[in-house]
Amino acid sequence: MSKLAVVILAAGQGTRMKSERVKVLHEILGRPMIDYPAAAAAALSPERIAVVVGVQADLVKKALAGSKVRFALQKEQKGTGHAVLSALPALRGFSGDVLVFYGDGPCLRPETFKSLLIHHRRSRAAMSLLTVDFEDPTGYGRILRDPAGRVIGIIEEKDCTPEQRRWKESNPGIYCYRMDFLKKFLPRIGNNNRQGEYYLTDLVAIAVERGLKLASLKAADPEEFLGVNSRRELAQAERILAERINRGHLANGVTIHRPESVLIGPSVKIAKESVIEPGVMILGETEIKSGAHIEMHARIEDSKIGEGVRIKAGSVIESSVVKARAQVGPMAHLRPGAVIGRNARIGNFVEIKKARIGDETKVSHLTYVGDAEIGKRVNLGCGFITCNYDGEKKWLTVVEDDVFVGSDTQAVAPVKIGKGSYIGSGSTITRDVPPGSLALTRSPQAVKEGWVKKKKAKRKKKG
Ligand code: UD1
Ligand code: CA
Repeated sequence: MSKLAVVILAAGQGTRMKSERVKVLHEILGRPMIDYPAAAAAALSPERIAVVVGVQADLVKKALAGSKVRFALQKEQKGTGHAVLSALPALRGFSGDVLVFYGDGPCLRPETFKSLLIHHRRSRAAMSLLTVDFEDPTGYGRILRDPAGRVIGIIEEKDCTPEQRRWKESNPGIYCYRMDFLKKFLPRIGNNNRQGEYYLTDLVAIAVERGLKLASLKAADPEEFLGVNSRRELAQAERILAERINRGHLANGVTIHRPESVLIGPSVKIAKESVIEPGVMILGETEIKSGAHIEMHARIEDSKIGEGVRIKAGSVIESSVVKARAQVGPMAHLRPGAVIGRNARIGNFVEIKKARIGDETKVSHLTYVGDAEIGKRVNLGCGFITCNYDGEKKWLTVVEDDVFVGSDTQAVAPVKIGKGSYIGSGSTITRDVPPGSLALTRSPQAVKEGWVKKKKAKRKKKG
């Protein structure tokens, strides 16, 4: 079988997005748009993938760092044909088939590329393309067929007659070329059109004019071919991808209430018997073990959620680990580096940053724990605060196993509270507490009996 290379075009600004940011870096389910076509390309295991970059090239390269692609630079954006021409140096020495598509097609599936490739090879065509019937083809190039029904060209919408504009059959922008055909005919594309651009789509007419074999295949599912040019289409693409992802989780045994309101990223793993309530967002490299329950409006990113964990409503969890059967929230905030032990309880309005909370420990209300090691079976009372920052540096607080900390206590770090100690309510702990001690810094209470009566009497006398 002949070899395969893939070219993805991502050099354009994307003017219709009305954005400073280049189009392919706009995010869908927490990932830059370009990630999706790049992943679909990688799924084909081609010999090479070349991504054509131009506008904000460095940022696009950065977004794809770590994936096995090579970059081609298109300095000036003179059209899609010119973009593929700029990719030729990255294809030097390659012979075989070249699959070309656009970086603004986030919903494309590798299976679709495969069926085009199979059709292309079976037909022994110089070039092949997909076509699709759009209910609303606005913005897409239209497919021109001869009276015998053979594809003979693509007309960009801007160059269409009013009659052609009504045609539904459109160009989704996925092509397969033999390398020798590309090399020979790409440089012959002209720019004599309404936009003065070098259109890749002109290769169709070029192939037909030379009597070269051209194959076409009509695709069934128009949703997959949505090209994102505007924010509205960005939102549509996100809905399509979220639906596809959620369908997969539902099929695997995850309950999702009101799935149309739930956004789950493409790399998220969720084990069966988990439950997800409405309005939840789960992004990045998050992994959720079986039997976890994620309540309404939680947002979880790059985190590990253990078996049987309950994340209560409105909680935000970033780059953290929550171990088996722990509970977090409602409205708790786990910031990067929080590790919550088994069966631990993190309650409402609690913020935890870069801190380990031991198994069965309770941090139930209104608390900040930052840069800390909290042991097992500890009780941190309401309003506990680690004073971890002296204005210049961050310092560590250590609370050993079985410590009981009364409400409204501050630990001024660096400080260590020894195993099994008690801290009286309202204390400010500035020095280490040895194991088994009671520490309290409260000032003694003064009581003046009958004080109110005396005050009133005084006032009467004066007035
Ligand atoms: C293109 C097709 C159109 C098709 C539609 C499918 C052409 C001429 N038109 O139109 O027939 O129906 O896609 O979605 O090909 N790009 C570059 N360099 C450039 C210009 C564009 O890399 O000089 C990249 C863009 O970053 C983008 C992609 O090519 O990812 C497509 O460009 P875009 O301007 O969106 O083309 P459409 O007008 O949508
Ligand atoms: Ca487009």
